[in-house]
Amino acid sequence: MTIEKKVRAYTNIALIKYWGKRDEAAILPTSSSLSLTLDAFYTETSVAFKEDITQDTFYLNGVLQNEAATQKVSRFLKLFREPTGIQTPALIKSTNFVPTAAGLASSASGMAALAGAANLASGLNLPDQELSTYARRGSGSATRSIYGGFVEWQMGTSSEDSYAVPIDDANWDIGMLVVVVNSRQKEVSSRDGMKNTVETSPFYAGWLESTAKDLIEIKKAIHSHDFQKVGEITESNGMKMHGTMLGANPPLSYWEPYSVVAMQLVRQLRKEGIPCYFTMDAGPNVKVLCRLSDSEKIKARFAEVFRTEQLIVSRPGKGLQIMSN
Ligand code: ADP
Ligand code: DP6
Ligand code: CO
Repeated sequence: MTIEKKVRAYTNIALIKYWGKRDEAAILPTSSSLSLTLDAFYTETSVAFKEDITQDTFYLNGVLQNEAATQKVSRFLKLFREPTGIQTPALIKSTNFVPTAAGLASSASGMAALAGAANLASGLNLPDQELSTYARRGSGSATRSIYGGFVEWQMGTSSEDSYAVPIDDANWDIGMLVVVVNSRQKEVSSRDGMKNTVETSPFYAGWLESTAKDLIEIKKAIHSHDFQKVGEITESNGMKMHGTMLGANPPLSYWEPYSVVAMQLVRQLRKEGIPCYFTMDAGPNVKVLCRLSDSEKIKARFAEVFRTEQLIVSRPGKGLQIMSN
């Protein structure tokens, strides 16, 4: 039985970053990572195998996509076609409720939603853990978007055991303020940025050593609900990742002036006794980890500098959701 349904996947923001592959084809990472799934940003995707179309057809946000974008999706769908023998063309419709390719993790929600929809449409019906290894083949960060709350992506030893594991529901007054400094498409994709960093940054060995320790420490802090410790490790780990990029040749930086303004404001709020910590990904936007109960107060302070449309408060998100048609 094949089912054509819309599947929703939420984005996730890494607190312990993934920044480098040891196998580019299989998307095996150089280190394990850990994220928080967000309920404010997501993708909804449906896949239908149809006899009445002649080739794979991909609509994103209602717009028919070009050959390159469609090929990326077709390559991914191969994973589901091979074990099932399905050769019929697919109609893929996706909507991003998150800016695309702006450093707000659209590849995570996008590829996780596509994996979820293809899993149903192909009738493969993989369980979540295996599905996360499939999502990984679309985009590394998508591995983690199969689950909600705090999620670890274990680097594993092979393609079969490099998957995500949910570690905590994050329902202990955890929130995130997303400061959208700029939502336009970035010039250097995460994929290219991390490749260049692995190949040329002299800081990379130090990063690998340090991020392994950060992961052990943050898991302890999550288990004991030590928010301050979780925040301190998050902020430090993110900065170290950006440090590796600055050391790359050519040097890479995703920051913009207002990214720095946002970081300074987080430090100022901490001085005033409000616990909050920032992290940034491959883009200029700043994510502020905070107590959900402090999030409106923090947002109000950011609203003195940023437009309210640039400020989105998010709760922890859930894992994959199958939507009723
Ligand atoms: P981001 O910071 O948004 O994750 P990336 O550079 O990692 O940026 O990835 C952007 C790429 O993710 C897009 O170019 C596209 O290939 C893919 N992507 C984004 N949204 C979707 C979607 N809804 N369905 C399929 N692929 C998507
Ligand atoms: C900085 O998962 O987008 O957001 O695997 O090449 O698709 P590909 O890259 P992607 O990289 C995410 C990088 C990051 C950190 C993280 O999410 O862990
Ligand atoms: Co991405």
